[in-house]
Amino acid sequence: MTFQAPKGVSEYVPPRSALFEEAREAFASSARRACYAAMETAVFEDTALFVRGVGESSDVVRKEMYTFEDRGGREITLRPEFTAGVVRSVLEHNLHKGALPVKVWTSGAAFRYERPQAGRFRQFYQFDLEAIGTEDPAVDAETIAVAYDAYTSLGLRQFTLLLNSLGDKTCRPVYRKALQEFLRGLDLDAEARERIELNPLRVLDDKRPQVREQLAGAPVMTDYLCKDCAAHHDAVRGMLEGLSIPFTNAPRLVRGLDYYNRTTYEFDHALLGAQSGIGGGGRYDGLSEDIGGPPLPGIGFAVGLDRIVLAIESERSGAPVQPGARCQVFGVPLGEDTHRDVLTLVTALRRAGVRADMAFGARGLKGAMKAADRSGAAFAALIGDHERSAGTVRMKNLENSEQHDVPATEAAAWLLERLAAR
Ligand code: HAM
Repeated sequence: MTFQAPKGVSEYVPPRSALFEEAREAFASSARRACYAAMETAVFEDTALFVRGVGESSDVVRKEMYTFEDRGGREITLRPEFTAGVVRSVLEHNLHKGALPVKVWTSGAAFRYERPQAGRFRQFYQFDLEAIGTEDPAVDAETIAVAYDAYTSLGLRQFTLLLNSLGDKTCRPVYRKALQEFLRGLDLDAEARERIELNPLRVLDDKRPQVREQLAGAPVMTDYLCKDCAAHHDAVRGMLEGLSIPFTNAPRLVRGLDYYNRTTYEFDHALLGAQSGIGGGGRYDGLSEDIGGPPLPGIGFAVGLDRIVLAIESERSGAPVQPGARCQVFGVPLGEDTHRDVLTLVTALRRAGVRADMAFGARGLKGAMKAADRSGAAFAALIGDHERSAGTVRMKNLENSEQHDVPATEAAAWLLERLAAR
């Protein structure tokens, strides 16, 4: 019997895994340049953290969580997103009592019991970034710039930044009431009607054409913003303009998680069809208090690395995947006795910073040279009985087949010089 991964699990194996690595690294290095620190948080949490943090009325909590009781009778949930866990961890480790804002990033698997389809998985991967402890609109724009620079550094062009403000405790209730009044007058089914009372903003997100048509005249939050929220929103937009980051005002943009207020945004890719959201985020100034912490404003975003891989593939259509860390030198033992010498050589090369691999097993010269070609290496380093007794390595340039005998002790320097010149 053979096994398959459970339905909806996203996996990356070579060579495609190189694209995944490239995507994650683009975000990590953009975050590092903005002085965000890496952290690792719990993959599973108390279920109540997500119920209180992400919100009882969100689809994620109502329908999509992987929840189970552990052997000790605890209610556990696999993280459906990172933000609630990151804020929990920041509070637990008292980072908020040090310098603010706390600027952190993390990445890994997240889990949502959704209907799997292209670009939508049950186990998927996010890169997540959070700035916790300031209301300054400059940090809103900073998070957007970090994401924007990462997308563009990957060569992505066909995406749009959608920007909205969801208001705050002062103005959102007024808007919510106006929206509910409008929605109650529409011809909607029972599920949508239930939503009007529970989470009316989600109705704006209904994708069905017969609902969309009726929503044309719905009131929008940005018309109801209080003075402070309007000033904050204007400041963020002004800063994005200053940074030459194009955005579209999207007054109907609704996010799927309940903790948002003020600035919210999404990055949408034009070539991905139904699952076009390649990232999204926003402010969550009330989240810390919702999970029992002190008042502590925050903002951040998460991107779906799976969808970014798909976006890269769609924009670089036809271009072959470049294997991540291509091998530079491939050691070839001529005869069985020289495996040890070749292993010693490649280990010394690696310690000198050269990416080196070798032929394992009794392959014969032909098989070993084929493996060397396949590895993508620029040079093969051959050691047979003759080389061993002479203390040399035969370096073969795999592009032009030129050969040089090099003293083993000088092999690393010889290679580094030639690799640098390439
Ligand atoms: P989210 O919009 O739920 O936000 O997810 C962020 C991104 O994760 C989405 O834009 C999408 O690219 C990806 N994603 C979500 N669900 C799936 C899925 N089932 N399969 C593949 N990709 C998926 C959050 O998770 C917030 N925690 C973001 C945030 C951080 N807000 C503030 N800080």
